Amino acid sequence: MGIMEIRNFSIIAHIDHGKSTLADRFLEMTGAVSPQKMKPQFLDRMELEKEKGITIKLKPVRMEYRADDSKEYILNLVDTPGHVDFSYEVSRSLAAVEGTILLVDATKGIQAQTLANLSLANQQGLVVIPVVNKIDSPQAETEKTTEELAMLIGCDKEDIIKISAKQGTGVKELLEIAIKKVPCPKTDFEKQFRALIFDSEYDAFKGVIAYIRVIDGEINEGEEIELMASGAKTQIKELGYFTPDFSSQKKLSAGETGYIATGIKEPGKVRVGDTIILSSKFQALNSKIEPLAGYKEPVPVVFASLYPEDPDDFDLFKDSLAKLRLSDPSFIFEPETKEALGRGFRCGFLGALHAEIVSERIHREFGIDLVISSPSVVFKIITQKDKEITIYSATEWPDVSQIKEAKEPWVNLEVMSLIRYMGGLLDLFKNIGAKYIETRYFGQEKIILVYELPLRQVITNLYEKIKNISQGYGSMNYKILEFRKDNLVKLEILVAGEKKEAFSKIIPESEAFREGKFLVEKLKSVLPPEQFSVALQAAVGSKIIARETISARRKDVTGYLYGGDYSRKRKLLEKQKKGKKLLRDAGKVRIPANVFLEIFRS
Ligand code: GTP
Repeated sequence: MGIMEIRNFSIIAHIDHGKSTLADRFLEMTGAVSPQKMKPQFLDRMELEKEKGITIKLKPVRMEYRADDSKEYILNLVDTPGHVDFSYEVSRSLAAVEGTILLVDATKGIQAQTLANLSLANQQGLVVIPVVNKIDSPQAETEKTTEELAMLIGCDKEDIIKISAKQGTGVKELLEIAIKKVPCPKTDFEKQFRALIFDSEYDAFKGVIAYIRVIDGEINEGEEIELMASGAKTQIKELGYFTPDFSSQKKLSAGETGYIATGIKEPGKVRVGDTIILSSKFQALNSKIEPLAGYKEPVPVVFASLYPEDPDDFDLFKDSLAKLRLSDPSFIFEPETKEALGRGFRCGFLGALHAEIVSERIHREFGIDLVISSPSVVFKIITQKDKEITIYSATEWPDVSQIKEAKEPWVNLEVMSLIRYMGGLLDLFKNIGAKYIETRYFGQEKIILVYELPLRQVITNLYEKIKNISQGYGSMNYKILEFRKDNLVKLEILVAGEKKEAFSKIIPESEAFREGKFLVEKLKSVLPPEQFSVALQAAVGSKIIARETISARRKDVTGYLYGGDYSRKRKLLEKQKKGKKLLRDAGKVRIPANVFLEIFRS
């Protein structure tokens, strides 16, 4: 067999347009996964991905394929997530490929992430292959979607490929076209070895496993490597490629995608975007190697405090955050100590869904129960002494007497939808106090509404609201603007008279009453009853603005006494009452870890 040519490409799309389903068909066609092992959305490996039906992680896979021209090809495919909160995964995957398939759902047409992801691909100078998917669906508007996509890309309608990823229609043609259009990677085997780390994960035995795209030269098993930015040096434990499982090989060459098991046990030493080179004793003399461009660090916009429920879990929690960060470099964490909560971390995320997913992963993958504060944006306060302070969490909010001015970040938001849902969307934005900027028309039927509004509004289920109003058609994208002044207050929640800092929130004064009422009602519905009645209160400063009570759960202490032994019954009930008083005096209501997640989601 001669040298096989390589094609590296990814699949990008708006959420749910069918990326993972298309990847399934490629895996079947190339025999990478046997029919017995095939399952829908095969590359969505994580339990959470399967449960939620969304892709969270980028996923590389190597396939071999004999094309119609009778040549054998190595195809390195990267499946990517579609939700806006995981766009860092998309941008990292794009640096590992020369081309990308842009998929558009024929039942939905172009949506906000179609535009955002196309723009990322264009910035990287990638070859874009435009594809309309789901043509089998009774709701498909294939012609209209084809026209829209041709207009967006600036190509002929005939250049748009029409497929059904579900039924396999057109998928072979698509693969043949991808092989023709995506260029073979530029490779120089004579040059010194250089590889870009585009992802990583932790393995208890093999240490940090770096996912790499080899740019120049080649690397063999057992060689010593160096990470240019972190300075870490190590001997390779194993290298290979993804089938999609790890498949150990003897070497990796320029143009290929694969992994290196580094054996490094400190997660902080391996970072995505770093360049791997051979350590000096393996290099040619006098060679000067330039690091690769790497990645721009994403800027977190949503913050939450995460504390282990059991304070003894602090070290384990710290270690798990560092390990998790290997497979999700888009969140940040800094240690924080709060009187009410103990020792924990202030974490920054790319959005509320991202915060929820990271918290869930810590719980599932590391078995740690967490106390999680309400996700919040960053606020700025000008004090009476004209000092500006940054507030990352509601617990840091100063007393009203110290505040001269409070500010919060605003965003420029673009909502894409069909014209017929415009009325509902205009009402929604009016109700949340957004500032209208303009309406842009896209083709015959679509509009892009542009607004400015506080980021705080965006992270509280705005996407779900837009989707409800527009029956699933609407989609959004946003850019952060500057901080603007607002009349903000701290809303606090008291459970059995005790302040529960994790539920505190910063909100405009005008919304405090509604939000306070909502929170105590929600808590009442999710908190398990205690043996004594529990008061739930919402307060702003010293003023209680909402109240609910959870009635006591009366344990049936007399159940086994049938018949008429009344005095015995009364004695047991008295005893129970006394016990309850003791419990109430202790004043402690334990909030189960799942309640934080429930409140967090609401
Ligand atoms: P995210 O990664 O979460 O953004 O989703 P995705 O783009 O990977 O989409 P996925 O492959 O998970 O498909 C989403 C839904 O569309 C699933 O219910 C699929 O069964 C369905 N779907 C995908 N392709 C087709 C198709 O060609 N026809 C029809 N009728 N349904 C499809």
